[in-house]
Amino acid sequence: MTLVFSWILFILVQSVTYNAAQLCDTKDRFNNTWFGSDCQYKCHCKNNVACNVTNGDCPNACDIGWFGPACQYADLANTAKLILSDGASKDITNITDGDDTTCTDLTVSSFWLRITWNFNIYFTWLRLVVSIAESQSERFSIKFPDNVPTQNSECINVFIDKITMDIYCNISKPLNEIFLNGSAVSTICSLYISKGRNVALKQPTNQTSNFYDSYYLSSAAVDGNGYSIFSDGSCTHTAEGDPAPTWILYFKSVVTVTSYTIYNRVQPLLSYNREADLFRLKGFILRTFDQTNNIVQNYTDTETSVLEVYNILSTDPWAQVSKVQMTATDTTNLLILTLCEVEIFGDSVCQIDKFKYGHDCENVCNCAVPGEKCFVSTGNCPSGCKAGFYGQGCNKSMNF
Ligand SMILES: *[C@@H]1O[C@H](CO)[C@@H](O)[C@H](O)[C@H]1NC(C)=O
Ligand SMILES: *[C@@H]1O[C@H](CO)[C@@H](O)[C@H](O)[C@H]1NC(C)=O
Ligand SMILES: *[C@@H]1O[C@H](CO)[C@@H](O)[C@H](O)[C@H]1NC(C)=O
Ligand SMILES: *[C@@H]1O[C@H](CO)[C@@H](O)[C@H](O)[C@H]1NC(C)=O
Ligand SMILES: *[C@@H]1O[C@H](CO)[C@@H](O)[C@H](O)[C@H]1NC(C)=O
Ligand SMILES: *[C@@H]1O[C@H](CO)[C@@H](O)[C@H](O)[C@H]1NC(C)=O
Ligand SMILES: *[C@@H]1O[C@H](CO)[C@@H](O)[C@H](O)[C@H]1NC(C)=O
Ligand SMILES: *[C@@H]1O[C@H](CO)[C@@H](O)[C@H](O)[C@H]1NC(C)=O
Repeated sequence: MTLVFSWILFILVQSVTYNAAQLCDTKDRFNNTWFGSDCQYKCHCKNNVACNVTNGDCPNACDIGWFGPACQYADLANTAKLILSDGASKDITNITDGDDTTCTDLTVSSFWLRITWNFNIYFTWLRLVVSIAESQSERFSIKFPDNVPTQNSECINVFIDKITMDIYCNISKPLNEIFLNGSAVSTICSLYISKGRNVALKQPTNQTSNFYDSYYLSSAAVDGNGYSIFSDGSCTHTAEGDPAPTWILYFKSVVTVTSYTIYNRVQPLLSYNREADLFRLKGFILRTFDQTNNIVQNYTDTETSVLEVYNILSTDPWAQVSKVQMTATDTTNLLILTLCEVEIFGDSVCQIDKFKYGHDCENVCNCAVPGEKCFVSTGNCPSGCKAGFYGQGCNKSMNF
């Protein structure tokens, strides 16, 4: 009897522990919070508040630098320089403060806004929030630099609600400036430009050798923590003597990739081995592959110095990527591959489930034109929502 009771208790305790872990409602050791069926998505709420463990929604707003469904899209507007056509004196900081309730009130009806970066980006989609309800998309237009072929890349405007509009453009060329034109520019509250979401997080990984059996494993590069104090165990480390130390990420389903951000091992200043550890990434090779194992990108680091963070642009933002591989080549000291984090910005493809969308292609498109493929990021449709539906993902019913 006692034994049976103990067993029941044991099973109860086990299942409670299991559920608690699955609910991912506690902070991890780096104070990050997570959501999703496997706690595989990182919350990005304002003030580091935990998000809804089921769908990632934030109780208040997204953290600065993030926007869109479940605050999963990194914002490039936040890293840009914004210049108004008519003068430097106007304060337009309300546009990129991440707060949709603070707006510009420029009183002049026709402006354009020049958005520039000191690095190249791929444009995929943006979100605009304005203060005066809009119904005509002519009040906005987006223009790209002259050398970017726009004639073949039509942009599609989608209203999410009266004050929120998304613009999608299919452009395959990197660029570093965009113009927003039209009378509605004078009432902008927020502008977000998608960098994509981090599709690398918690994906299956491996490496050709491990330094330790239980620490510095390949998964440390996709644990959502770029913080690179090595002793905290959030970086990977291959074994000494590995002739071609290589780290591999296998996407659970194919993705498109716009850019990679690689966090090097950074020891505290004055550490005796700081330089040597940084140098291990010198000359690294990044290779990506499609589903049939054909090479998509073959990038070799040619930086003259070593960097703490590497930003690499993809060569084809629409190519379908199923595997990413990093190899260390520097033999100045020990040939070892150490990665503190690999962030891969891109999005789902939903290739098998063509009429689905979302991080796991878990939602069904609900477009006006039957059988139309919706945008994988938001679930909104080129043709608009099916009659009776509206909102992000076209999943709000007008009958509610
Ligand atoms: C996590 O948060 C706690 C309490 O705010 C703080 O003491 C600790 O240093 C934080 N840990 C990290 C890794 O940031
Ligand atoms: C989280 O989202 C789910 C699904 O939309 C909803 O049913 C649930 O009530 C939300 N939880 C909280 C705590 O708001
Ligand atoms: C920013 O928004 C706030 C709140 O709406 C408003 O009071 C303020 O005047 C705005 N600032 C500028 C410079 O437009
Ligand atoms: C964009 O165009 C490319 C071809 O240039 C195509 O492969 C891709 O599917 C298009 N993307 C979208 C979202 O339409
Ligand atoms: C913006 O639109 C106005 C009016 O159509 C036009 O005069 C101006 O040249 C445009 N600016 C840009 C940068 O395209
Ligand atoms: C990981 O890589 C090691 C070394 O190449 C290999 O022996 C092992 O089978 C791989 N594990 C998985 C799960 O692929
Ligand atoms: C990738 O580039 C490296 C260095 O340029 C070269 O040695 C290698 O052969 C290339 N690999 C493939 C598969 O193209
Ligand atoms: C609509 O879809 C979004 C994902 O885009 C989801 O978070 C939300 O819970 C859905 N709402 C309804 C009413 O189904």
